[in-house]
Amino acid sequence: MEHRAVLIPGDGIGPEVTGAAVRILEAAGAEIQWEEHLAGVAAIEAGSADVLPDATMKAVQKHRIALKGPCTTPIGEGFTSVNVALRKRLDLFGAVRPVRSIDGVNTRFSDPGVDLVVVRENTEGLYSGIENIITPGVVTSLKVVTEQASRRIAKFAFHYAATRGRRRITVLHKANIMKQGDGLFIRCAREEFEAWKNELEYEELIIDAGSMRIVQQPERFDILLCENLYGDVVSDLCAGLVGGLGVTPGANFGMDNAAIFEAVHGSAPDIAGQNLANPLAIIMSSVMMLRHIADTANDSSCGSAADRIRDAYNACLVAGEKTRDLGGSLGTTEFTDAVIARL
Ligand code: NAI
Repeated sequence: MEHRAVLIPGDGIGPEVTGAAVRILEAAGAEIQWEEHLAGVAAIEAGSADVLPDATMKAVQKHRIALKGPCTTPIGEGFTSVNVALRKRLDLFGAVRPVRSIDGVNTRFSDPGVDLVVVRENTEGLYSGIENIITPGVVTSLKVVTEQASRRIAKFAFHYAATRGRRRITVLHKANIMKQGDGLFIRCAREEFEAWKNELEYEELIIDAGSMRIVQQPERFDILLCENLYGDVVSDLCAGLVGGLGVTPGANFGMDNAAIFEAVHGSAPDIAGQNLANPLAIIMSSVMMLRHIADTANDSSCGSAADRIRDAYNACLVAGEKTRDLGGSLGTTEFTDAVIARL
């Protein structure tokens, strides 16, 4: 079964790392037909008036699945970030960041190991962008919490947990202080959990104490459900437990199975074009994409391609075949070749 997906190479190291992922998916036999489109500075340089050209937006709206490299947003020139624009226009309300210890990438948390998923509400909270200068020297930033968005992300997290063989949901909140806003968020989560209580476990932790527990005992956590700001901070904290930017994939999900898969890191202009970038995070993101296609299009061959790619890169890492940021000596191309050799 052939599937169509949009490929956005992006800027800086984006073309190098997305190119690596495309080669690996092809070598694994994943039947993806890519439609390539520009975004970011690459789009401006190709003559577009905007960092997110209409053609790119339309292609993502049509195919509903994209693998995206990092995009540079020109600062001070009035452009909205590509990520924010895509998120808003496609209503990608759920950010998912799996965080797993990887054999061959040792951190102080490798033993007993981390294996959790951060699910973050992506559309509101303090990111509503509503700020007011009340009087010089006094500013309010509005935290918007709606029942609709809170229920939607809770439902998504429970469904995600159940379909990925996970059991325990921990909601991180500060409802002891933000009694109305975070109070509404956890009330919706509790109510939605009623439908899942025979399959899943549920707990609530106040975000400050919860953060302490995450670094003390990361192995006890399975799915962390957070509103926007807590999810943003906690997902970077969790990424730090397993080796940081080079090994952290991500996805943004919307309604009707729309999803954009991308690494967490940026366009790394300092190492762009030098064969130094670690493509692992975008490779992991493309594995998430294959699993999403396997689930939504009911195509098990995508699921088995995902398994083979994961096994291949894990075997490389264990054998010390790594890029420099992980303490190895391979370049982007050589690491990609090593993964393909193991496929
Ligand atoms: P960055 O993630 O691009 O770089 C931070 C540091 O990590 C740099 O030293 C870089 O060399 C290193 N690094 C990042 N990814 C790496 C990889 N795959 N392999 C090896 N080393 C890697 O963050 P920075 O410098 O804050 O942002 C640079 C540009 O990227 C900015 O224009 C920013 O707006 C954009 N950006 C885009 C994102 C996206 O499109 N999803 C996300 C974050 C930043």
